[in-house]
Amino acid sequence: MPFGFIKDVTAKNSRIVAGLDVGSTRVCVVVGEVCPPKKSGTNGDGIAGRENHRGLRLIGMGYAPSRGIKKGVVINIEQTVESIKEAVRMAEEQTGVDIRTVTIGVTGSHIGYIPSQGVIAVKEKEIGRMDVEMVLDAARAVATPFDREVLHVIPTEFIVNGQGGITDPTGMAGIRLEAKVQIITGSASSIRNLVRCCEKAGLEALDVVFQPVAAAEAVLTRDEKDLGVALIDIGGGTTDIAFFHEGHMSHFSVLAVGGGNFTNDIAIGLRLPFQEAEQVKKGHGCTMLSMINSGEEMNIGCGEGKPARNIPRTHLVEILQPRAEELFGLIRDEITGRGFHNLLNAGVVLTGGAVLMQGMDVMAENILALPVRAGTASGIEGPPDIIGNPSCAAVAGLALREAEACFAELDGNGFFHGIKSKMIGWFK
Ligand SMILES: Nc1ncnc2c1ncn2[C@@H]1O[C@H](COP(=O)(O)OP(=O)(O)OP(=O)(O)O)[C@@H](O)[C@H]1O
Ligand SMILES: [Mg+2]
Repeated sequence: MPFGFIKDVTAKNSRIVAGLDVGSTRVCVVVGEVCPPKKSGTNGDGIAGRENHRGLRLIGMGYAPSRGIKKGVVINIEQTVESIKEAVRMAEEQTGVDIRTVTIGVTGSHIGYIPSQGVIAVKEKEIGRMDVEMVLDAARAVATPFDREVLHVIPTEFIVNGQGGITDPTGMAGIRLEAKVQIITGSASSIRNLVRCCEKAGLEALDVVFQPVAAAEAVLTRDEKDLGVALIDIGGGTTDIAFFHEGHMSHFSVLAVGGGNFTNDIAIGLRLPFQEAEQVKKGHGCTMLSMINSGEEMNIGCGEGKPARNIPRTHLVEILQPRAEELFGLIRDEITGRGFHNLLNAGVVLTGGAVLMQGMDVMAENILALPVRAGTASGIEGPPDIIGNPSCAAVAGLALREAEACFAELDGNGFFHGIKSKMIGWFK
């Protein structure tokens, strides 16, 4: 067992954290060990080594095919529970850790946002952390429909005594503090079902995080968020586009298209069962005819009992290219239609399993007319198959969120205590 030294450690009472991504294609769990950021050097925000070394070492991962989830929403509780159990079992076997608590990611077209603002009078002359919390609470107090749950309150701007454009007012002098925020909400029943699946799988949910918020934390640099960047996660069932500008998320869209559509096209075009089509896509898929040799052949099975056959690879690429063009066309329309194109000075960062297909990055660059890079976790230690994999960005970010919650709970002696669930008071 590679990580036997941490056997019998439980996520509940130690420095072990776990992120759970219940995706449309696969359920994925990563386990990490929290190690305080090195004291040497700061990255300019006053937090020691935050981006260079973020205080998290991933030690293993478990995954299972996703059953019971469609486009980010639970459609079958029992099947989802089984998938979660299978992924958790694999992660536990690999790491020797008994996983009891997780931070869960959520996405899907049920996610929405409401702009809001709050204002408070500052009692002391200097604005403190409590004032910031109070003004954010005031902004959060906007009426949300009973069937929505607030996931995040993202400050976009603070205004002190009428002076706007402030990103952190702590320590400033002033008597009137205003905050402009984006409140990210999700369907209460969708979130509740996800949490219930975790509970049925024997896990306590510490927090529920919108996937792009988690992925951004793992892969985007502060500079990119300041300059303007689009984080695009192309998963199995959905494509999440999150826009960042002036340091914060300013907008997001969820398109109901993903890698599964490519597989469907192959299944129909080459008359293959879905699973076989999935293998062909992963083994030979490419989205650009100009990237392959016209004489290339590939071997495909024809389903049960039928002999394998050789076909030109161009047949496959002719199926995939129009689908990729259509997908990036939709993404381009979303970027330009919302007036973001000129704001994306740092370009586009791609995550999600579907971006692993050959040609996706080049096609993205051609159609979006923006610089594109693959989004892999940075500042986190761990095995290259997790850290260097754009399909693990979101789940790594979930573990990172939990690690950061651990730091917030560090006592004066530098000891970690159990993290309190942020979900107390939810689902009353
Ligand atoms: N090497 C590969 N080549 C092509 N496609 C791939 C490859 N690896 C994974 N995929 C595709 O990526 C998709 C799954 O990606 P991911 O694991 O990010 O999705 P998910 O999180 O389960 O789904 P969602 O985010 O939509 O809920 C599937 O369509 C899968 O076929
Ligand atoms: Mg996903």
